Amino acid sequence: MSELSKSFEMECEILDRDHQELMQQIDKIAAVIDGNDDGRCAKLTPEMIKFAKQHFTREEALLIKVGYPDVKKHAAHHQNLDHKMETILELAAMADENSLAGEKLKSALKFFLADDIIDADLDFKSFVKDRDI
Ligand SMILES: [Fe+2]
Ligand SMILES: [Fe+2]
Repeated sequence: MSELSKSFEMECEILDRDHQELMQQIDKIAAVIDGNDDGRCAKLTPEMIKFAKQHFTREEALLIKVGYPDVKKHAAHHQNLDHKMETILELAAMADENSLAGEKLKSALKFFLADDIIDADLDFKSFVKDRDI
């Protein structure tokens, strides 16, 4: 099971917990694709996407609460991920029967997590860090 590397921690418990949960769910889907775990991508992936959307809502509410000035920009970033999440769901619907779709899903999930979820959040790390939220 992978752990969030220290440099990607937001040092904000609520957000780090969510990111960790997303990472674990994505690890599990990748293990299913690799044949190392039981389960179905067609079931696990929609659950992960649902959790990701809940996370975005939680994160935006938290940014508003702490008065982060660029909250609209970050909310727009989340909004722009809708199309990507649709593609992920389409791949997941095929991945259990189609190994090429499985490989594409794995790589799409890796970039979704690393670039769109975690890296994009580093913009406000210094703002939320060590705040008593
Ligand atoms: Fe986040
Ligand atoms: Fe975010």
